[in-house]
Amino acid sequence: MTAPLAPEAPRLAFQEWMAAVQERVEKALARHLPSAEAIPARLHQAMRYSCLNGGKRVRPLLAFAAGEICAAGEEKLETAACALEMIHAYSLVHDDLPCMDNDLLRRGRPTCHVEFGEATALLAGDALQTQAFLLLARENLGAPNIQLEMLRCLAHASGSLGMAGGQAIDLDAVGRALELPELELMHALKTGALIRASVTLGILCGERLPDEARLALERFSKRAGLLFQVVDDILDCTASTATLGKTAGKDSAADKPTYVGLMGLERAREFAGQLREEAIESLEPFGDGARRLIELTDFITRRRF
Ligand code: IPE
Ligand code: IPE
Ligand code: MG
Ligand code: MG
Ligand code: MG
Repeated sequence: MTAPLAPEAPRLAFQEWMAAVQERVEKALARHLPSAEAIPARLHQAMRYSCLNGGKRVRPLLAFAAGEICAAGEEKLETAACALEMIHAYSLVHDDLPCMDNDLLRRGRPTCHVEFGEATALLAGDALQTQAFLLLARENLGAPNIQLEMLRCLAHASGSLGMAGGQAIDLDAVGRALELPELELMHALKTGALIRASVTLGILCGERLPDEARLALERFSKRAGLLFQVVDDILDCTASTATLGKTAGKDSAADKPTYVGLMGLERAREFAGQLREEAIESLEPFGDGARRLIELTDFITRRRF
């Protein structure tokens, strides 16, 4: 029997939308990164290696999806998406270093330091970070006050009160049992901060939303950010290295604080389900305008890698 078309249609549309955003971001990143021949070529090769040809591009997808709520221009969204992805790629390069998670595999390939050496990987991370801010500071991105807000948002999300701070708590907690509130703070910072910034940058690319709408999206992005890392923790101990494209079991085996470690697998799964519901609930005021964000929330929850 042929399956009915109707229930499949929205999923297919989401897949197409996702593929289109991913392709657009890939091409834009390739343009916005220094060429592999530009001196110092090895550093530029390492930057391009770490940023291109891989990754789900969840942060760009969130920015584009949030942008749909406020009629954001695609050019602006593309710039914000590339800046977010550069910060994310930098965070992964450093996360994989021997002094941090000491990982050999990322996105199905040798990690940056395995391919290029530790010193070059360190510099590639540094340079990806500054490249993100250079890009966001480019001319004609929009009203200067909004552009400044975007720069501030990304800087805050990346720094010691955001991603870098979360990574510091993560390292400090190895081998030590964390209580739930501390674990939640760590996740909210190390992964959540950039996820929240993705939604905020998407909104800043469009028409100004009323405060209530902004608050609702903030609630959404807090739940979605936490959800993202809870699912990462679950996948770490349930998926294979081949599927993940990074070393499975790494976070759990390294005696790192994870939701699975603290709650057990079943409760972590339930918690992910609860976070998904809360995230979607906070989008109610937007009706169909938030369709992409809802679909993305489901994608984040059900992803296999
Ligand atoms: C992995 O992020 C690291 C975390 C912040 C949990 P992603 O799962 O978004 O990695 P890519 O970009 O798709 O490779
Ligand atoms: C990394 O968290 C979060 C970052 C800020 C990069 P993880 O260490 O759990 O990420 P994976 O599992 O290596 O991708
Ligand atoms: Mg880590
Ligand atoms: Mg890691
Ligand atoms: Mg992990």
